[in-house]
Amino acid sequence: MSGTTAAAEFWEARYADADRIWSGRVNAVLADVAATLTPGRALDLGCGEGGDALWLAQQGWRVTGVDLSPTAIERARAAAAAAGIRTADLHLEAGDLATWQTTDAHDLVSASFLQSWPVVIPREEILHRATGFVAPGGHLLVVAHAGAPSWADPEMARTHPFPTPEGDLAALQLDASRWEVLACERRERSITAPDGSPATLDDSVVLVRRMGERRARMVP
Ligand SMILES: C[S@@+](CC[C@H](N)C(=O)[O-])C[C@H]1O[C@@H](n2cnc3c(N)ncnc32)[C@H](O)[C@@H]1O
Repeated sequence: MSGTTAAAEFWEARYADADRIWSGRVNAVLADVAATLTPGRALDLGCGEGGDALWLAQQGWRVTGVDLSPTAIERARAAAAAAGIRTADLHLEAGDLATWQTTDAHDLVSASFLQSWPVVIPREEILHRATGFVAPGGHLLVVAHAGAPSWADPEMARTHPFPTPEGDLAALQLDASRWEVLACERRERSITAPDGSPATLDDSVVLVRRMGERRARMVP
């Protein structure tokens, strides 16, 4: 079985096994970054149940969200319909980002926690491919868990290849004459652990900007 097939089966089974996995809320780093940008076209890589993609659409972005799991995409579509988001503003698609293609250029490409454990995905290749989806003047944001939470399966802490900001930046393989690095750092985030106790998580944050003039915003 190929790595991607195994990941597709793993994630589909994981989503199918529960009514909902994630909170449905936007990820904090994405919200902070997007708040500094003028809305345009956005692409959410590994959008899961759509927390980020729906939020972006509600902020005036025209969004495409892609995820390996058809169940997650169906769930995101249902949440978008319930929130009254127009399909013209949010396109959700099941696809494998190792091969997925688009001819659209995006003002913001975001990968929030595009990680897979215990089944590995070709993450570095996917991140490198993502640079090709960014419009001149556009931004690419990669946010990842940089370490296991305190309550995680010890096997995960031992075997999951947790990303580092430097590693993710290197994976992008940027041409320094065409890209500006705006952030490459670890950020600590306070959260509530499943048992209700306060805890912290380490995020790896990489934000880069493709040089060039951003085009005028399209009118739908
Ligand atoms: C940890 S979840 C994060 C989901 C979402 N971004 C969020 O923050 O709630 C990782 C997601 O990446 C998706 N994924 C993993 N490999 C993928 C691939 N090759 N192509 C598309 N999506 C993928 C999984 O299906 C899963 O929904």
